[in-house]
Parts: sequence; structure tokens; C-alpha cells
Amino acid sequence: MQTAAIDALLQETRVFPPSEAFVKQANINDPTIYERAAQDFEGFWAHYAETMLEWFEKWHTVLEWNPPYAKWFLGGKLNACYNCVDRHVRTWRKNKAALIWEGEPGDERVLTYGDLYREVQKFANVLKSLGVQKGDRVCIYMPLVPEVIIAMLACARIGAPHSVVFGGFSAEALADRINDAQAKVLVTADGGWRRGNIVPLKHNADEALRHAPSVQKVVVFKRIGGDYTVTMQEGRDYWWHDLMKDAPLTCPAEPMDSEDLLYILYTSGSTGKPKGIMHTTGGYMVGVTLTAKWVFDLKDEDVYWCTADVGWVTGHSYIVYGPLSNGATCVIYEGAPDYPDRDRFWAIVEKYRVTIMYTAPTAIRAFMKWGEQYPRKHDLSSLRLLGSVGEPINPEAWMWYHEHIGGGRCPIVDTWWQTETGAIMITPLPGIVATKPGSATKPFPGIFPAILNDQGQPVGVNQGGYLVITKPWPSMTRGLWGDPERFVQTYWSKFEGVYFTGDGARLDEDGYYWLLGRVDDVINVSGHRLSTMEIESALVDHPAVAEAAVIGVHHEIKGQGIAAFVIVKEGYQADGGLQEELKQHVVKKIGAIARPDQIIFTAELPKTRSGKIMRRLLRDIAEGRALGDTTTLADPSVVQALKEKYEGQEE
Ligand code: WTA
Repeated sequence: MQTAAIDALLQETRVFPPSEAFVKQANINDPTIYERAAQDFEGFWAHYAETMLEWFEKWHTVLEWNPPYAKWFLGGKLNACYNCVDRHVRTWRKNKAALIWEGEPGDERVLTYGDLYREVQKFANVLKSLGVQKGDRVCIYMPLVPEVIIAMLACARIGAPHSVVFGGFSAEALADRINDAQAKVLVTADGGWRRGNIVPLKHNADEALRHAPSVQKVVVFKRIGGDYTVTMQEGRDYWWHDLMKDAPLTCPAEPMDSEDLLYILYTSGSTGKPKGIMHTTGGYMVGVTLTAKWVFDLKDEDVYWCTADVGWVTGHSYIVYGPLSNGATCVIYEGAPDYPDRDRFWAIVEKYRVTIMYTAPTAIRAFMKWGEQYPRKHDLSSLRLLGSVGEPINPEAWMWYHEHIGGGRCPIVDTWWQTETGAIMITPLPGIVATKPGSATKPFPGIFPAILNDQGQPVGVNQGGYLVITKPWPSMTRGLWGDPERFVQTYWSKFEGVYFTGDGARLDEDGYYWLLGRVDDVINVSGHRLSTMEIESALVDHPAVAEAAVIGVHHEIKGQGIAAFVIVKEGYQADGGLQEELKQHVVKKIGAIARPDQIIFTAELPKTRSGKIMRRLLRDIAEGRALGDTTTLADPSVVQALKEKYEGQEE
């Protein structure tokens, strides 16, 4: 555990209780909810499963728990798309805006729940006409346009699990994910807009499909159009608009079993290969629907904006399934926060009168750096609640968000959770819990974390330890696609019978949780999860590289930056040209999010006598600290030489 980080957080004593006015109107403001949920957590979840969702058939058993395997709402039948769309169109919400979309170039579209109902059914029929059946996997690789959500909901409607791949991933990363899931159909677009440039999605898809033979059909949404052309392969590729023209208007929602797979979403773990996190229908929908309603205090008159991309779990749970299940109005924005200028987000808040905004600390730190003159240009008075997700938020960024965006009046919900947990786990309930800058505060009712030491014992107040979850919860992942052993190994082997999160945390004297970052080889760059091994594999794939060690280093804006220590093979020139080439190589293998900030050439890497690279020492070097304990090194002179060399390169 990084003691410097703990010490800094121990200094934080500010407390912000919710205002009386907020408490009065909050969806949940009864503090006894925590106790009641703890007394009977199955009963708690079952009550909200029943009242918040529509089931075709009720379950007969709430929970079956054979650690690490959980089943929730056994025997229940429901459909996620039906709960997000159909049930709203039977009410006044039929003509309520479901999605307010803004493209990066400034184009906009509004889709009501009625519109979604029509489009989703048509696209579900398109998928069927392409041979997609219940259980078949559909890969989605798209920009943030309404059609990506239509495609996801259409999959859910017919029981075809989707696997959404973030549009920033490279062709190779896409191919890996398609192959792992054995997807039958790919839904993509000609391109997407990012900082005024075209992201060549179809081009990447074509490259990926050369190595991904499971895909039989490709649907291409025309986002860019005009002079921008893409190649369409006869018999394989179809334009979205052509297929939609004649698609029948109605397609019934398939009754799915609670435990039927809703989607697979790939995320990074501590080995090179991404993990296909599986979420099933019933428990997941219960988790995201209730947390969206309570954490964001979602009301019918809200305009809710989650700034994530749908390619991440935040987009799945809190752009699509959670908010739409609640019948909310959601703003979605395709592009970058600094295009055409650094006030784009605030222009969007003002334009649509956004009331709830959910974003990431890395974005907040960038806004802070750009300066308060950008938000000040706009009327942000519509905002009433702010959220944060993806990484620990430093108290300074929290305070800036509170003052300059929230005008000092909006509660901030710092929400801790993971792709694996499906829904928010540790968070303030904004009408109940007083917040402290930098703390995710309390577990959501019905969620039971603990902080353990290496021996599996709970640690004392303010002592750092491993964050675990001790009881099952409805939206927990049901496992890793095609890799049951790794599921047990990664999450359920460190401590007996409890879920290991991979995060460090501490609990303060008021029972507040403070997240301290990852304790494994996962790094968090701008809120994106990456595995150091994944980047190392990409580097050693280059012919010039003999060996590579990648670490996350402190970065002012991104949270963590990527530093790669590289041993070059004989005959290659270790120079600036090669540094650039290696960075590009990683972009090609994984995507721009994994581009190393620094490449440091070295003759040797510090290793233990058993041959394990000591990343801790590399971090000491990269962050300019005195070297920690080097006694276990096979050759202590290696690290001293490396330190001197690194410091030489810095100047
Ligand atoms: C980190 C994103 C501190 C954490 C929803 C976790 C956070 C990983 C927070 C999951 C937070 C997420 N405070 N750390 N509020 N939210 N994390 O799967 O390390 O992309 O394990 O899910 O992000 O990242 P993932």
C-alpha cells in the first residue's frame, strides 16, 4: 500500500452533509435502509426486484449460493429490453425523450421511448434476418451514436448476448475479442468523430475480420457518409439503413431466464489476455435499476448525462440499462471534451439543462488544469447532483468539482465499482450520507465489503488492506467467458469464500471507505483499465524487443501514466526513432489508450533470484523515490545503474 497516499488522505477532515432541501425530495432518505438491508439482504433485493422490474414469470428462489457460484431469482423470466423500453411506452413516457444525442460536429437527435421501441424492434428483426438466434453472440464496435444503444437493446430483446468493443481499440484487439466470444455478427459504423478526425471503424473491422472467421455478417451504420467511403464486401457487409428500410415493425421480447447471459464485456486483468466478464439478466437488471434510482436520485424530470462511452461497463450500466430501466432522459455525446473548445461539456450542460452529471476524475483534473474560465462561461444552474467513477478522486479535484461545477450546492456521489460487480457497490446515498472529499463513503445497502490483511484478518481503523466483498450480490459477474478456472483463480483464491476486488482500501473511524488503487498488475490510465502484461506482450511482439517491463507511474491528469522499460535485441539501435516506433506498435496492437508515455531503454531489468521482475523498484525509479529494499535482487547493481541512467534521461 502506498503510505504517502494514505497519509495525505488522513489529513482530509471536511464533511458535507446533504442539504435539507435535497434530503426532503430524495428517492431514498431513510437511514434505516442500511440496517434493514443487512438484517435480510435476500429479502431486501427480492423486494426491489419485484417492485422495480416487470417479470413475465416470478422466481421461485431468491438466491442459490455455492461459492463462488451465485444464481439469483431462479426460475424468474424477464427481458432487459422490455424493461428498458416496452413498459415505458405503455405510459405517458412514450413521448418522453429517452436519448438526447449530440454528435461531435454539433449535429443532434432526440429519440423518445416510442422511437426507441420502433427502432429496437426493427433492428431485432434485422439481426434475426441475418441468422442471429437466442444465445448467439453479437459484437458491437461503434461510435457513441443512438444506434449503438439500439443495437444493444435489440440483442437483449432476442436473447443474443452482446459484446461491445470500445471504438478506440485497434483491429487486433477487436479480432481477439471477436474470436474469444466467437461472435456471429458484427455491428459497426463507417467511422466516428474524435477531435475533428475520423476514427476508421469499418477499416479496422475489415482488418480484424481477416483473422476472425466466426463473423458471417456485418452491419455498417453510416455515421460519416459524404465523401468518406469504405469497402463493402458483397454477401458479408450490409448498410444499416438498407436493412432497416424493410424490417418488420414488431418483434416480441424473448422471455429470458434470470440466469441467461445478457452480455459479455472484456476487461483487463493481471495477465496479457483480456477477460470476458459475463453478466446475466435478472440480477444485473435489479442491481443497475436500483442503484441508478438511488445513487443518482433519478426522477422523471431529470436530464441525466453519463459522459462515459458505451464500450465500458459504466456505459452499459449507467447509460443504457440502469437509466433506461428507470425511464430516464439521457444525454449522450459522441466526442471529446475539448472539441472544438475546452468548454464543450459545459455548453452541453447549458444547452440541454442537464441536472445530473456522471464523469471521471481524470476528466475533472483536466478541467481543473484548463481553468475555471471554461465552466464559468456557461449557465450550470440546472445541475443538482454530480457523480464520479473510474478511479480514486483526489480531494482537490473533488473540491473543484464541488465548487466550480456544482456551484457548492450539488451532492457528489463518488461511486466505486468494477466491470465484475456490474453495479455501483460503494457510494454515498445522496439524501442520507454526508460526504468527505476523496472517500466513496459507504457500501450500498445489501452490499457487504471488508478490508483484510495478508492473513485474511480484518484490518484496524485507518490501516490499509485488501478490499473484498463477503456476501453475494445480484449483479455480480457469473464468471469469465470460456475460462472458469481463471475466474476462481483471480477472484476467489486469495481468500476463502470471499470475492477479492484487486483494490486496496482503508476504513476510517466513521466507517467510511477510502479506495487506494489497485494492488495487482492492473493499471488505471484515465479511468481505463489496462494490464501491464498486455502492454508488455505488445512490446515484445516487436522484432527489436528482447524483454519489457511495464509499470503505472503517477500522472497529474491521467491518474497513472505508462512507463515501459525495454531491453533491445542486439543489432537494433536504441534511439528516439525506436522509442516512437515502439509506442506506435502498442497503439497498433491494443489501441491509443495503451500508448506508453515513456520508453526507457535498459541493458537489464532488476529481477529476484527466482527471475521475477521487481516492478516495485521500477516504480521507485520512475517516480524518483529512493530505492526500496533491494536485498532480494539477484544483482543489486542492475537497479542502481538503471536509476542513474533514468535520471540522466530525464534531464
Ligand atoms: C477503479 C469501472 C476508486 C478500481 C466502473 C476498480 C475506482 C477499477 C472507483 C474498475 C472509485 C472505479 N474510486 N477507484 N470511485 N471506480 N475504480 O472495471 O481500481 O473499468 O477496481 O470499472 O477502477 O474498473 P472498471
